[in-house]
Amino acid sequence: MKPDQRDAYIDRLPKAELHLHIEGSLEPEMLFALAQRNRVDIPFDSVEDIRKAYNFSNLQDFLDIYYQGMAVLLTQQDFYDLTWAYLERAHADHVRHVEIFFDPQGHTERGVAFADVVTGISDALADGEKQWGMTSHLIMCFLRHLDEAAAEATLDEALPYLDKIAGVGLDSSEVGHPPSKFTNVFARARSLGLKLVAHAGEEGPPAYVHEALDILGVDRIDHGNRAMEDAGLVARIAGEEMTLTVCPLSNLKLCVIDEIGQSPVKAMLDAGIRATINSDDPAYFGGYVNENYRAVARALDLSRAELRSLAANSFTGSFLPPEAVAHLLAEIDHYDAHTA
Ligand code: HPA
Ligand code: ZN
Repeated sequence: MKPDQRDAYIDRLPKAELHLHIEGSLEPEMLFALAQRNRVDIPFDSVEDIRKAYNFSNLQDFLDIYYQGMAVLLTQQDFYDLTWAYLERAHADHVRHVEIFFDPQGHTERGVAFADVVTGISDALADGEKQWGMTSHLIMCFLRHLDEAAAEATLDEALPYLDKIAGVGLDSSEVGHPPSKFTNVFARARSLGLKLVAHAGEEGPPAYVHEALDILGVDRIDHGNRAMEDAGLVARIAGEEMTLTVCPLSNLKLCVIDEIGQSPVKAMLDAGIRATINSDDPAYFGGYVNENYRAVARALDLSRAELRSLAANSFTGSFLPPEAVAHLLAEIDHYDAHTA
């Protein structure tokens, strides 16, 4: 496929996004506007100043700025506006279904009410479904640099809102905070009927991916790059049809890879792994989901069939019921059949 033709194919390809931190979609313009609206002091004088600070050499570098940025989010309306802005952007990229992470501990520790966070986000998600038929799930992440008791308390706070929360996840500083640190809280989440996911193998070793699978019993792995270092693990992930939510531009910005051509996405597909393409924290990493597709497609010379597989994987790997997955896969078929 010629590059222009490939980009056009990506543009309107129906897809899901399965790895998106809603706080990571806070664009510098909105960060600046909310700081003024809420009278929150930020250490930046302008939008350009904020953008200039987005230069990271590892995950922790990014997280320090990410938590600082969140400080401007205070009201239910702020969470609604943040989510709505993301949904409009995702809709423009022909995203048909989203599974969105949020970090309640990043907000409740600043005195923001759990209810305001969940209600603001989920009201916007409901409006996205009304307006475009875009379906969604909300996944509550535990901050792994905090202890398991804090995660347990967060799950307690979520109990009245479980009708709005599909699953739990694990994010923040990975190395030194293995999945096994959260064994009990994940077991309780499972018993409540929640889906389980965990960031693993972004910076952490393959052993963390093993732990996420064996000890937490996750339904999906976020990132999973370093699983590729362990041939037995690769075969297992492929055999179990475990979905990996890969984030190419994030990997580049956080120096998980040195250039986009080192993205493991093609190697994963070649190994029979159900890999997907996602944007992670698009406001910080320089691109929403289609930009991630375009970047890897260009660098790895992905074929039309591979792009189609990645989009199909995003639906098959979602937490939608089988009828909805079948419907969305049929949308891909229809698109593919009617696109030159
Ligand atoms: N990794 C870990 N924690 C995060 C990330 C990430 O890429 N984005 C937001 N929190
Ligand atoms: Zn992430």
